[in-house]
Amino acid sequence: MRKMEQYDDYITARRLELPVPGGSSTITLRVNEVEHQHAAPATETLAQYLRNRPGLTGLKTGCGEGECGACTVLIDDQPVNSCLVLAFQVEGRRITTIEGLESADGTLSALQQAFIDHGAVQCGYCIPGMVIASEGLLRRNPTPDDTEIRRALAGNICRCTGFLNIIKAVKSVASANARAVPE
Ligand code: FES
Ligand code: FES
Repeated sequence: MRKMEQYDDYITARRLELPVPGGSSTITLRVNEVEHQHAAPATETLAQYLRNRPGLTGLKTGCGEGECGACTVLIDDQPVNSCLVLAFQVEGRRITTIEGLESADGTLSALQQAFIDHGAVQCGYCIPGMVIASEGLLRRNPTPDDTEIRRALAGNICRCTGFLNIIKAVKSVASANARAVPE
């Protein structure tokens, strides 16, 4: 029962109030601080748009129906399953994909590096979604505890790692953030 409640919380957290679909047109999205403008049908999902138009293939599509979290991106810092959003619905919103976390010279973010350092990556398919969901959590709450980390990642499925090293990776960044806070 508790798990069902947590799942409902997760589904609610990843639902956006968005406008009703319109016709096909040129869609302009600001992704990772860069403007992308492409013609696309009104039925194109954000996941399809990001992968196929600007070629941001870091996000993965697994289930295509909101169950696995592999396609997670940030919209205005909120983790969202991009397979459930139509691209034109998020024009004007700030979108962040996994490609947007590293710096211009290719240096990984502390969170990305933590996943590597903690052996949190096996096949890697789920990892962009895991990292982005964690990034969303850390932007809202730089020092989450174990429970908050687990809840934030409840909608992201990994078939390889057993989740423990993923949680350790996020926790290491949270601990570093806590140490960095001046007393
Ligand atoms: S592909 Fe979007 S949640 Fe699975
Ligand atoms: S590392 Fe393979 S699915 Fe997560």
